[in-house]
Amino acid sequence: MCGIVGVVGVREATPLLFEALRRLEYRGYDSAGIATLVNGHIERRRAEGKLDNLGRVLELRGLPGVTGIGHTRWATHGAPTEGNAHPHGTERVSIVHNGIIENHAELRAELELQGQVFTTDTDTETVAQLVDLNLKQGMAPREAAHACLKRLHGAYALAMIFAGHRELMIGARHGAPLAVGFGDNEMFLGSDSLALSPLTRRIAYLADGDWAVVSRDGAEFFDMDGNAVVRQIRLSALAADAIGKDGYRHYMDKELHEHPLVIGQTLQRMIDPATRRVVLPELPFDLATIPRITVTACGSAFYAGLIGRYWLEAEARIPVDADVASELRYREPPLSKGGLGLMISQSGETADTLAALRSLRAGGQHVMSILNVPESTMARESDIVLDTIAGPEICVASTKAFTAQLSVLACLAIAIGRARGVIGEAREMELVQALLDLPSRAVELFGLGDDIRAAAAIIAEARDVLYLGRGSHFPVALEGALKLKEISYIHAEAYAAGEMKHGPIALIDKSVPVVASAPSGPLFEKTASNLQEAQARGGRLLVFTDPAGAARMGKIAERLVVLPEVHGFTAPILHSIAVQMLAYEVALLKGTDVDQPRNLAKSVTVE
Ligand code: F6R
Repeated sequence: MCGIVGVVGVREATPLLFEALRRLEYRGYDSAGIATLVNGHIERRRAEGKLDNLGRVLELRGLPGVTGIGHTRWATHGAPTEGNAHPHGTERVSIVHNGIIENHAELRAELELQGQVFTTDTDTETVAQLVDLNLKQGMAPREAAHACLKRLHGAYALAMIFAGHRELMIGARHGAPLAVGFGDNEMFLGSDSLALSPLTRRIAYLADGDWAVVSRDGAEFFDMDGNAVVRQIRLSALAADAIGKDGYRHYMDKELHEHPLVIGQTLQRMIDPATRRVVLPELPFDLATIPRITVTACGSAFYAGLIGRYWLEAEARIPVDADVASELRYREPPLSKGGLGLMISQSGETADTLAALRSLRAGGQHVMSILNVPESTMARESDIVLDTIAGPEICVASTKAFTAQLSVLACLAIAIGRARGVIGEAREMELVQALLDLPSRAVELFGLGDDIRAAAAIIAEARDVLYLGRGSHFPVALEGALKLKEISYIHAEAYAAGEMKHGPIALIDKSVPVVASAPSGPLFEKTASNLQEAQARGGRLLVFTDPAGAARMGKIAERLVVLPEVHGFTAPILHSIAVQMLAYEVALLKGTDVDQPRNLAKSVTVE
């Protein structure tokens, strides 16, 4: 989604804002803009497209001033043009916004009747025009902002500056994240702590419905009724240099190579090295008595949840429902009393997952979240958080966060199985050993580059691709297909291999490559038969298997990628990395913008 930032201080604001926007660009890259106060007047520079375009505009026409706001946009209302780029405003006020103002049409009509003149198609401009009208009617900035906020419906994080008020910035939050950063004689606003990490580590998060009046030497926080509230300042763990590419061509390549480290770090957090047993943080409920788990998430995080479901059902013998958050939140499923809502999210801010969290809580569920951002909204609203130690993930398409989520889910399945008395010590040791073997097996994957590139060359020529898998490898197929779509723009669909004969087989011919995730194990023969059916119809098979499956698959596959032998329990984790690597290689061949694919944004904070 959009990223917003603000500075009020003593240093030139534009370079600080620009650097912060660079860190927020993963949230959207349709356009970018900055506004500052220059001799008390609002001036702005904006550009369509990526932040570099704004950089070129600023080189030609610099923007002085020590107070300013900036924005990087993922378009919701209004085309991604320079005209619709934020900041929006009037000569009196300038605003950046992340979210959607749902009653913008009604407000616009009302404001136009009162003589306000709109210049864009955006929902955001209604906020600026409403504050402007309030200012014109004689209100001071903080009153004007507060009166405006009370009229807004929808989701927003906002930052505003005011002509003639060099020491003032107002921020507000409802359904989209916003943090206040505390510096020395300077203060900041930002969508996340990553944006603020070069500026300060001292961060306070606004709660939903809060607004903040920020000056050079501090911030005052208020609730929607205007009552002063206290928001705790925390020390963010993020290092300022956390977002370099470290010599890799793309963030995605760097993040793929971080898989072994990230899996290792995440497991370290969950496995006691002395006893080799899974340890969870102290829980406010008893794992042994949970009747049912509802897993929910979006996109790749949901596919991690689907793999988790196989583990939880098979190893912990607990009933699990899984649904994408955008459906779950409206589905009104009957929930078991005392059940567990299990949320999975890299960002911890995804609007649908957050809404699903709230509906599960309202339905009496305990809420556990698997998150990569410990300071996120979901972290604050969960009963218990299990951290993925993946570090900042900058590439828009998720890679390392996905396998970190899987590492946590695998440990959770073991812990629940143990609590329910269905996993004994020997089985726990076996599964833990399988997990601990993973980082070194994952390193071996990087030696398979030639085989993966050969498979990628076939896919890069195709218009449509089918991904197949069975059991816990069906979600691996879903993840592979999603990653391919996202970064190479090739159409891909994933099916449970056994479903192919019920319809998708009609698609098979030599122009539609079939990618299969098929390790040896109980479902291997069944998958091989399904693949043979595809091969008999001219399908070109690209198969990910392991040494034990290589001979059988070698007879039918056009290309084989033989992954290291691992325990069947952890094989989906290794196969997920392999299908992500395949998508990356295809994207390189297609020459797409790997880290910032078209139309996408990380951290989707609108519904
Ligand atoms: C896919 C991808 C998305 C996210 C989804 C959820 O590569 O990155 O599908 O997984 O938008 O995001 P989070 O995990 O932040 O809730």
